Amino acid sequence: AHQWQGLIREYADWLPFDDGDPIVTLKEGGTPLVHARALDSRTGASVYVKVEGANPTGSFKDRGMTTAISQVLTTDAKVVACASTGNTSASAAAYAAAAGLSAAVILPAGKIAAGKLAQAIVHGATLVAVDGNFDDCLRIVRELTESHPVALVNSVNPYRLQGQKTAAFEIVDELGDAPDIHVLPVGNAGNISAYWMGYCEYAGRTALTSMARTAGAAPVSTKTPQMWGVQAWGAAPLVLGHVVENPETVATAIRIGNPASWKYAEAARDDSRGWIDRVTDEQILQAQSILAAETGVFVEPGSAASVAGLLQAAEQGKVPEGATIVCTVTGNGLKDTATALEGRELSFDPVAPTLEAVASALDL
Ligand code: F0G
Repeated sequence: AHQWQGLIREYADWLPFDDGDPIVTLKEGGTPLVHARALDSRTGASVYVKVEGANPTGSFKDRGMTTAISQVLTTDAKVVACASTGNTSASAAAYAAAAGLSAAVILPAGKIAAGKLAQAIVHGATLVAVDGNFDDCLRIVRELTESHPVALVNSVNPYRLQGQKTAAFEIVDELGDAPDIHVLPVGNAGNISAYWMGYCEYAGRTALTSMARTAGAAPVSTKTPQMWGVQAWGAAPLVLGHVVENPETVATAIRIGNPASWKYAEAARDDSRGWIDRVTDEQILQAQSILAAETGVFVEPGSAASVAGLLQAAEQGKVPEGATIVCTVTGNGLKDTATALEGRELSFDPVAPTLEAVASALDL
């Protein structure tokens, strides 16, 4: 049986690496595309979730980190750095460890989910907490990497989007063609840009920062999907059309007011005839709950924004009957159990260690 080799080797023809180049991989990619019947019945469409929390460090960031860190190994840099709302830092720390590099992660103080912080720490990164938000951290790390021999591995590094575009390839390979609609949470706006690039390349077009080696290759798909982006209500610069100075949302992963890939995300939206809208924290938590309790997929709040946006669109009558729709759910729910458990009944009074007591507690 075929054993998955990680996305650089699986999609070698579509990525800017040559035979013999160093490859740092934790065998990321190849994530589940799960048919979500609980969403079919709520939307009248055929809805799949791309479960990116199944990647090695629990988020889609691993796709971009295998490519970014592999490229760093062709340079003299010994240190990589990133700003992060948590997942990028977890992934950078893990891939730097695998590559024998050091990682420095610049984080907004007090706004990182505990699981993500734990990952950066155990993988051996050096953490700096900044009294500011993600946008401050990204500004600082950009300046830092310009003035020091340190490689920047945020998604403004073009190798990041190269890796992340492969999720679109996997979806087309599995469904046999592109979906009609693709829905994504949008924070720093790299991922929606990467998917759009991937869908375009598979349809025989180039877009954005394409580095494909596929000029002249036959198209794999017959079409590209509409790209639907979803932001959190209090962190929705792309919806409002201006920078948000103090972004706020329970979905800390996408608590971003000035996305780096702003222009690419707008291009993806407009070229695909899609849209970018926003949902409230309450809608995000409700979507998280539906996914966990009715689909069996536990995602973090930022990830649930895609599903919340789809459900909102369905209520507004914007979902075409019978359309094939893929929602990317970007990160694993285990990264932020505190938010998932908030407001839940957690007092488990122990019962006697007998069958009768347990059966009675179960109302059996
Ligand atoms: N979902 C999750 C779970 C994320 O961690 C992020 C971004 C996004 C969605 C948004 O993706 O930025 O490409 O639009 N997290 C970054 C980080 C900012 O630092 O981990 P995007």
